[in-house]
Amino acid sequence: MDLHARRADSFGAQAEAYAEHRPDYPVAAIRWALEPLGDRTERLDVLDLAAGTGKLTAGLVAEGHCVTAVEPNEQMLSELVRRVHGVRALPGHAEHIPVPDQTVDAVFVGTAFHWFDQEKALPEIARVLRPGGVLAAMWAEPATDVEWVRELEQVSASSVESQRHDPVSIMAHPLFAKEERATFPHSHRRDSPEAAIAWINTHSRLIVIDDEERAAINEKMLAFLHQRPETSNGPFDVPLVAEVFRTVRVSE
Ligand SMILES: C[S@@+](CC[C@H](N)C(=O)[O-])C[C@H]1O[C@@H](n2cnc3c(N)ncnc32)[C@H](O)[C@@H]1O
Repeated sequence: MDLHARRADSFGAQAEAYAEHRPDYPVAAIRWALEPLGDRTERLDVLDLAAGTGKLTAGLVAEGHCVTAVEPNEQMLSELVRRVHGVRALPGHAEHIPVPDQTVDAVFVGTAFHWFDQEKALPEIARVLRPGGVLAAMWAEPATDVEWVRELEQVSASSVESQRHDPVSIMAHPLFAKEERATFPHSHRRDSPEAAIAWINTHSRLIVIDDEERAAINEKMLAFLHQRPETSNGPFDVPLVAEVFRTVRVSE
């Protein structure tokens, strides 16, 4: 298995910690993503693809939508089923979505689009969307314009690089209109430096490295967080930015 595939499949080993420590998504980002559907008042049929433990799924359910969650990793999907109720949860991949043609109004992808084989996933997403339906890919990432957050990112760097997405060509495909992008401020409450470290340890760049390297990085992070005034005095908020790309399925 190559490194990309190993990382894409790595999250299950940390499923419980993932559910416990990863951030959710701002409701403003979800609403912005759905704007192209207009002022429809009925419940929308929404697919959360690569749903993980349900961080985004829970936000979609709270907005009153009829949500189907699809996730390939068994441990991640079990956490989702345990924690998010009122959702249809199905095992499956973005490249082969277990949902019939033209049955959803919107497909959401939270912090996972970069793991897909996009040449296969985009036509699959287009297949399940109704004409005019929305595809929204979003990421909730540390706000690196804040000095201590940027430094924490540097301190937590491992021998495996962060898996960045290409913000421009990400959804370029003849079945989709040109994408639009927006960002939303967000934050992630942490009770202690240890809780911040637990969150950072749920990233694949730290899951797939060996124990010795991870222990050394964790030690550096702990020293850093105990020494910074922003993080060494009780609970703190980590500034995040939610970055959203939305596009609309065009008719053939
Ligand atoms: C970083 S997690 C994001 C989970 C969730 N959407 C969230 O926002 O917390 C990435 C997820 O993508 C899933 N994944 C990886 N490759 C996938 C693929 N080809 N199709 C669907 N899901 C995939 C992983 O199993 C993992 O649960």
